[in-house]
Amino acid sequence: MKKVAVFTSGGDSPGMNACLRAVVRTAIYNNLEVVGIMHGYDGLIRNEFISLNSKSVANIIHRGGTILKTARSKEFLTLEGRQKALANLQKHNIDGIVAIGGDGTFKGASEFSKISNIPLVGCPGTIDNDLVGTDFTIGYDTAINTVVEAVDKIRDTAESHDRLFFVEVMGRDAGLIALRAGIGVGAESIIIPETKTDVEDLIHRLANGRKNKSSKIIIVAEGDEAGGAFTIAEQVKKRLPDYDTRVTILGHIQRGGNPSAMDRVNSSRMGFSAVEALLQGKTNVMIGIVDKNITYTPFENAVKHIQELNPDLMRMVNILSL
Ligand code: F6P
Repeated sequence: MKKVAVFTSGGDSPGMNACLRAVVRTAIYNNLEVVGIMHGYDGLIRNEFISLNSKSVANIIHRGGTILKTARSKEFLTLEGRQKALANLQKHNIDGIVAIGGDGTFKGASEFSKISNIPLVGCPGTIDNDLVGTDFTIGYDTAINTVVEAVDKIRDTAESHDRLFFVEVMGRDAGLIALRAGIGVGAESIIIPETKTDVEDLIHRLANGRKNKSSKIIIVAEGDEAGGAFTIAEQVKKRLPDYDTRVTILGHIQRGGNPSAMDRVNSSRMGFSAVEALLQGKTNVMIGIVDKNITYTPFENAVKHIQELNPDLMRMVNILSL
């Protein structure tokens, strides 16, 4: 192996830069030439290759976003797009690839492996944590901390006005941000796509809960089947008009910001391990960290996102918010 390529793809996440830095420097340490591909799979198709050296990744470990930019590529979903991408990789004599991204990225990588023999290893970069084979994806910890910081502020104003707030957090198909951040802010209830949403039960609990509580915070994952924070808040308002109810959608602030210490460390370990995995001949696997150890999960298993939610945590939320 002489030359490796690295790119970021899908929704950006804090820690992608730290991972990229680790990939570049580990590759250079192993006498490999490194190129970066701008804009994920789109850049692969459009031939946006840039050469990277140790200095290119200096002072980025603490920066959110991704210096390589990112995209959700429609063209890579087509065979023609993937063939163009392969032709560009061959033109640049690439013998190994590190892809930093989420489940769309790894589904794309799996398809790509049907036409390409170039070894490809993935690092899980997504705030959603919706991949099997790692305890924490890159950016998840930072996103949770962003939510906690924002909801603490909402709690102050909710408390002053005796209000009920519905706060919607990201997670298109997964409630892991909602669950962990909800525990961190002492939410009264957490509504997530993994469990059946019972608005009646929520109304019952709000109507019969402790009366001397001045504020109440309900965290809603955007992907929940009940239709999001506004829809649920409307239903509750109709039935419990005495509550002064407000809705906040946190949105993309959850994707930005400096990565937490934990994200920087995990990203560095994963980027480092991705290059070592390529050198060991591994391919089509996602690097993860499970119980503090580096793991390798085939892409087809990683993207099944059947991360089991710990039922004890949901039970605990209800007890601790009494
Ligand atoms: O990257 C994951 C994620 O942040 C999801 O939680 C969210 O639903 C989605 O991306 C938003 O994507 P976009 O960047 O297209 O708005």
